[in-house]
Amino acid sequence: MLYGFLSLAVVLVATVRASNNIDGPSVSQVTKPIGLAEGPHWDGRKNILYFVSILDGEVYAYHYHSDILTKITLNGQVTPVVPSRKNPNLLLVGVDRSIVAVEWDGKNKQGNQAVVTTVNKQIADSRFNDGKADKQGRLWWGTTGRDTVNPGQAFLYKITKHNINDPTVAISHVTNSNGLAWNKANDKFYYIDTPSLKVVEYDYSDENATISSGRTVFDINDHKTNITGVPDGMTIDDEDNLYVALYGGGAIIKINPKTGELLNIIAIPSRDVTSAMFGGPNLDILFVTTSKISLTPEELLQWPAAGSVFAVKNLNAKGLPAFTADIIDSIPSRDYGNH
Ligand SMILES: *[C@@H]1O[C@H](CO)[C@@H](O)[C@H](O)[C@H]1NC(C)=O
Ligand SMILES: *[C@@H]1O[C@H](CO)[C@@H](O)[C@H](O)[C@H]1NC(C)=O
Repeated sequence: MLYGFLSLAVVLVATVRASNNIDGPSVSQVTKPIGLAEGPHWDGRKNILYFVSILDGEVYAYHYHSDILTKITLNGQVTPVVPSRKNPNLLLVGVDRSIVAVEWDGKNKQGNQAVVTTVNKQIADSRFNDGKADKQGRLWWGTTGRDTVNPGQAFLYKITKHNINDPTVAISHVTNSNGLAWNKANDKFYYIDTPSLKVVEYDYSDENATISSGRTVFDINDHKTNITGVPDGMTIDDEDNLYVALYGGGAIIKINPKTGELLNIIAIPSRDVTSAMFGGPNLDILFVTTSKISLTPEELLQWPAAGSVFAVKNLNAKGLPAFTADIIDSIPSRDYGNH
């Protein structure tokens, strides 16, 4: 709410600029307003965009070709959602502090579900937040506060086939774990702890599943005349430019992490932009999730599409395919002893 006033000014400026440029990006609304939409994941095998509405426990499937939106509801706060590599009808979903395997084909009723593992046991008031699979199918899933965001009480976990019972902490004592992207060469990892206002680059070893030598490549504080809000979810294109959602900033920013340059500001008709992911059959549509949960009734009149998923076309950019999870292939038949 703090950011509403400033962000309006930024959005108006950006909208005017965009509409003057007929070759520029075009933004359209893909879904109706949903609550706190987050965690977009494009599954090219099915031409489905998965995303969640965190507080409602809802996992959505947007079927690109038929324009149909389906959903299931789980018991807890949900995010992220990553489909299995070997079984496209099995989703790994963060439900509060647990990874839950859910059988769902995106069309019919959900099948069975089971808890795979639970993290952050020492911090009850926490839940999973942004998370993705790496090229090898390992999960890099972070946490944040569930009811209140507590400084230093969040972690980025690395979950592999071999450490399911005791996931490794990859980054300690952050506050609101977000972002997550790997470059095309798969030797850099990008990460955001939202309140830091920074995008951090790490050296990444795919072979060893390790990150090292974190350094800031972009700081919102250095760009306060152009943008506002805080950095939330993030994705990357095939030229290694990052697209960062600005919660409170009504925009996606395109940045070059090699130079630190702010390349573009793409206005989104929703104040609280939560994440972005390239999808569509050619991976050239940027799907953007947004939230309406922090808007007052007055602000909702100002942002009637808040909470919707949007599609940005004509960006002249393409994404990289999202990696799928290779942790388990079916509902666990044994008790992992972690519930
Ligand atoms: C992986 O770990 C091994 C053993 O510690 C090390 O020699 C190698 O350089 C590491 N690979 C990368 C890409 O960091
Ligand atoms: C940022 O603001 C400056 C000054 O108004 C302007 O020249 C520049 O084009 C803006 N950058 C972007 C990416 O819009």
